[in-house]
Amino acid sequence: MDSFISWVGGKKLLRKDIINRFPSAFDRYVEVFGGAAWVLFYKDKGKNEEIYNDINGELVNLFRCVKYHPEAVENEFKLILNSREIFEIYSQNNTNGMTDIQRAVRYLYLIKASYASKTTSFGAKYRDITNLEYLHDVKERLSKVVIEHKSFDKLIKQYDKSGTLFYCDPPYHNTEKMYDTGDFVFDEVQHVKLRDMLGTIKGNFILSYNDDKYIRMLYKDFHIEEIKRSNNMALRTGNNKLFSELIIRNY
Ligand SMILES: C[S@@+](CC[C@H](N)C(=O)[O-])C[C@H]1O[C@@H](n2cnc3c(N)ncnc32)[C@H](O)[C@@H]1O
Repeated sequence: MDSFISWVGGKKLLRKDIINRFPSAFDRYVEVFGGAAWVLFYKDKGKNEEIYNDINGELVNLFRCVKYHPEAVENEFKLILNSREIFEIYSQNNTNGMTDIQRAVRYLYLIKASYASKTTSFGAKYRDITNLEYLHDVKERLSKVVIEHKSFDKLIKQYDKSGTLFYCDPPYHNTEKMYDTGDFVFDEVQHVKLRDMLGTIKGNFILSYNDDKYIRMLYKDFHIEEIKRSNNMALRTGNNKLFSELIIRNY
């Protein structure tokens, strides 16, 4: 199935290529940099344990509320008037006094009503964003997924064992600032730390990255494949230029 949100760097167009490269057997699947979880939603549930994680607390709260209270999210969402003024109030990021459901609805609204789902500027083009019936299917899909809110290093340490498959989709090199990661800045030190950790795990990893000299150099000891794909924005912008991404594995 599809994810219930768009997300900057979401892997809607790369998900098949990634899943086709999964190892034939694993008993624990961990999506380390979860975002909208396009790969997790597309993959078969299987019999494996599944873990979703992201450092963004508002996004994680949204996933948790949809998992446990989709009706409450849907009902509260219907009360919002879709307007630039409401968007601007919500984008001030003041969540004081809000319940978890209200925070989830605020964030879902920012994702749905913003330009390119970046949550920062109002996407003035009218779209009907009020039909949330599909949240019930999302709840079903997430029913056995463990939802974590940790930085990648702590998460990998916690869930590593032989039989774990980590899917890592970190902020791409030189686009790190596109994500709201609070006090945790994803810089080159973090790219190196991720490589070092993935180099010592007992489980398997599959990693997606932008095709970049620095990333090729960091992962030169692993299996690197180049995949060409069209731009996520191609339909909206008419820019059909292909660009390449890397899929990197330790198996
Ligand atoms: C490229 S996006 C993931 C997109 C996702 N694969 C999808 O299909 O939507 C990268 C994600 O990493 C998260 N992130 C950034 N720094 C992180 C960290 N230190 N630990 C865990 N997640 C982090 C961001 O919040 C963002 O959602």
